Amino acid sequence: MDIVICKDGSDLNARAADAIVAQAQASIAARGRFSIALAGGSTPQDTYVLLAQPPRVTLIDWQKTFVFMSDERCVPYDDDRSNFGQARTNFVGHVPLPPANVLPIPTDAGSPDEDAARYAQTISEFFGADLNGAPPPFDLVLLGLGDDGHCASLFPGKPTLTETGKWVVSSPPGTLPPPVDRVTFTFPLINAARAVMFLVGGANKAPAVQDILENAPPVTKRPSAGVHPTAGLLTWLLDEDAASLLSAQTRG
Ligand code: 6PG
Repeated sequence: MDIVICKDGSDLNARAADAIVAQAQASIAARGRFSIALAGGSTPQDTYVLLAQPPRVTLIDWQKTFVFMSDERCVPYDDDRSNFGQARTNFVGHVPLPPANVLPIPTDAGSPDEDAARYAQTISEFFGADLNGAPPPFDLVLLGLGDDGHCASLFPGKPTLTETGKWVVSSPPGTLPPPVDRVTFTFPLINAARAVMFLVGGANKAPAVQDILENAPPVTKRPSAGVHPTAGLLTWLLDEDAASLLSAQTRG
């Protein structure tokens, strides 16, 4: 696990964008394609904007890049609360990604459970992986962190936290806004990734960051404590405010 402390929000976004470019180039060089699952929420949006701007926009082979979402709010994409909607406005709609390479979570299959099942099928077909088998490895899964320690839409105390078979599930709303149903990657799918990167900014996140990185809290209390890639790299990108309660030892 790497803990990277950035001096401020714009440093965090620049480093996150550079890390995504590096992971894209390495994945395409090694396997001919790059599969990334984007995070929702406000923190990664400026990173997405940077990816769509020079010089970084010219450093990724978009023909070989495939964009997924690690969680979604069950609203239409043109709703302000839509994670894919935000990513499309800030990034996906501004880079030369072939439409077939953009694979958001459906929110119109009839119910959140059906949205989740359909997305798991999409992932299974993309990777050629058996839905009843081990989850396939995304090259990079991006995650944000809620003030309560949730990530994706894996909320404290919810049954989604103990899912061991399914790759994608629905979830009722958490305690933090927006109060809408969700579809989310599960821990098995997140932890199968070749790389997982948390983007965390702001003093309001500092208590959860300190608890997760220093106290090994129960996952039911701090869901992000359940993110431990089986064979992949875990990176926590933090700005100074989010890292403000960490000990000198943890800061390294
Ligand atoms: C969501 C996100 C969620 C988010 C955190 C942090 O759908 O809300 O996927 O997990 O990453 O809540 O959100 P902020 O970046 O807005 O603080």
